[in-house]
Parts: sequence; structure tokens; C-alpha cells
Amino acid sequence: MKHFVNLKDIPVRDLRKILHDAKKRKKKRSKLNTLIPDKDVPLKGKLLIQMFEKSSLRTRLSFHLAIKQLGGGTLTLRSNELHLGEGGETIEDTAKILSVFGDGFMLRTDSDEKIINFKKYLSIPIINGLSPSSHPTQVLSDIFTVEELKKKPISKLNITWIGDSNNVLNSLIVASVKFSFQLNIGCPKKYKPKKFILEWVKSKNKKVNIFYDAKKAVKNADVIFSDKVISLNDQVNKKNKIKEFKNFKVDSNLISFAKKNCIFLHCLPRGSEIDDSVFKSVKSKVWLQALNRIHVQKSILLYCFGKLR
Ligand code: CP
Ligand code: NVA
Repeated sequence: MKHFVNLKDIPVRDLRKILHDAKKRKKKRSKLNTLIPDKDVPLKGKLLIQMFEKSSLRTRLSFHLAIKQLGGGTLTLRSNELHLGEGGETIEDTAKILSVFGDGFMLRTDSDEKIINFKKYLSIPIINGLSPSSHPTQVLSDIFTVEELKKKPISKLNITWIGDSNNVLNSLIVASVKFSFQLNIGCPKKYKPKKFILEWVKSKNKKVNIFYDAKKAVKNADVIFSDKVISLNDQVNKKNKIKEFKNFKVDSNLISFAKKNCIFLHCLPRGSEIDDSVFKSVKSKVWLQALNRIHVQKSILLYCFGKLR
């Protein structure tokens, strides 16, 4: 049994195995309808319990379909409908019940500590479906999408992030170290990546490039990523923060400074950081990006269940 909480904790060899398996499985089922399971049904009869403390569309749908295509099923909980969410039950007791009823647990939460506590008491794997500090399933899937579209290892590409220093960027930074790719980050000085993540990069003798000028950050980019300036439950003055990011909007002028065949990715939902001139252009691959989460999460589930070959 393995957990999938943070890319930092997972050897790159295992991350590569997940991507390889996802590629094979995606190819094999290209003619199958969405609800038809993969031929080998490796997770037949298994139940993934997913719990959301924050809104979700893509993560919810993709995990539901991922385990279904592996032969299992999901049960989706909202934490405010449980005793735990109302303060009437401990994490330890909730975790023990989840372990008795289910085979895996996917949690989207507002608290990194909660994931650690659940992990301590669960006897089934836990998957981090977004926390304040990371969004590992999203980023691993995005690496899959980049390599699928660019047809080369991500280590041979220039990756740029334009936007807030949030959970998705933290995971992308970790991925840049694990998979050895060049990462340029463009953001206002006030919103540069947090110290804890930059120190981790330094401890691995690696670096990321930070620019306070969006044009410099996108120069020579093969891939431009962005994400919402205001993340879920971001406790800030929203108007002010959006204003502070006004020079970091991905529009057709900015993207013209990147490579000609550059692609644009965004995990969605989107906000003021992206202009329709790019979002709706041929460079934008956001729908494929969203769909690929099913394929990569299937292999993440197999990894967690000890079934990855
Ligand atoms: N990208 C992503 O995680 O989307 P949801 O918030 O809709 O799950
Ligand atoms: N950074 C965003 C990602 C949403 C999928 C958030 O945390 O809201």
C-alpha cells in the first residue's frame, strides 16, 4: 500500500512508472466507451471514498471515472455532512471507519495537517486531491499531457508559469526538480514562491528562475501554465490582488514572446489571468489536459493499491 500525498515523497522512478502505465492504458482503451472497464479490471470490486471540503468538478469526475474504468466504484462525501465536519467525531475514528468500509481515500482539504493526520490513522491509501500547499495529481497529469503533445521528455522543454504562487505551482516546482526540467516563473515580486518551497529546491541543489516581468518569463517557452489569481478560499482582498497581477495576464501579445509552437495549459477553473484570445486559441490544450486526469489518476490508483506493473 502506498500513499499519494506529495510529489516530494515519491521517487521519480515510481512517478515515471505511473506515467508509462497511463500511456499504455490510454492507448489500449481508445475505442472503449467511458464506462466500459479496462479488460484486466485490476481494481474489480474496490471502493474509493472521496471527500471534498472545497468545490471540485474535474477532480471529482476524473477520480469517479478512473476507478470505474479499473473495475471499482466511488462514494463521494462532503465533509460538512459528516460528524467530523461538525466537530462531533475525531479524525482517528473517521479514518478507522473509512478503512473498514473503503479501499482507498481521496481527500480535497483546506488543511495540510488533516492529510497528515488521516494518513496516520488510515489503513488504506490516501490521495491528496488538492491541499493549500499542493495539487500533486493535477501536476503529474499535466506532465503526461505535455509529453503527449510535445512528444518528448519534459526535461527537454522550457516550461513557464505565469501567475500566483499557489498549490499548483508548488507541485510544479517539485516536479521540475524530480523530472529535471527548466521552470521559469513570472509573477509580481510580492507573490514570489514561498520560502519553504524555494529552500527545498535549494536543498536538492536545483533552481527555478523567477522573473518579475512576464515577457522575460515566457521567452523561449514551449509550454505556458497559468492558474487563478484567487484560489479557492484565498483570504485576500480580491480586487487588490487582481490589480497587482494586471501585468501578468496571458494574452496573445504575451504569448507572442514564447516559441511559435508553444502550448497553453490551465488546470481550471479560470479567472482574470487568462484572456480568451489565448484560452480559446489552438495553442490552448486545456480540454485534453482535463481529460488526461482520468488516465493518470488510474495509474496513481494502481500505484497506491500496489498493482502497478
Ligand atoms: N483542476 C481541478 O482540480 O479542478 P476542480 O477544482 O474542478 O477539481
Ligand atoms: N489553485 C487553485 C487550483 C484549483 C484546481 C485553487 O486552489 O483554487
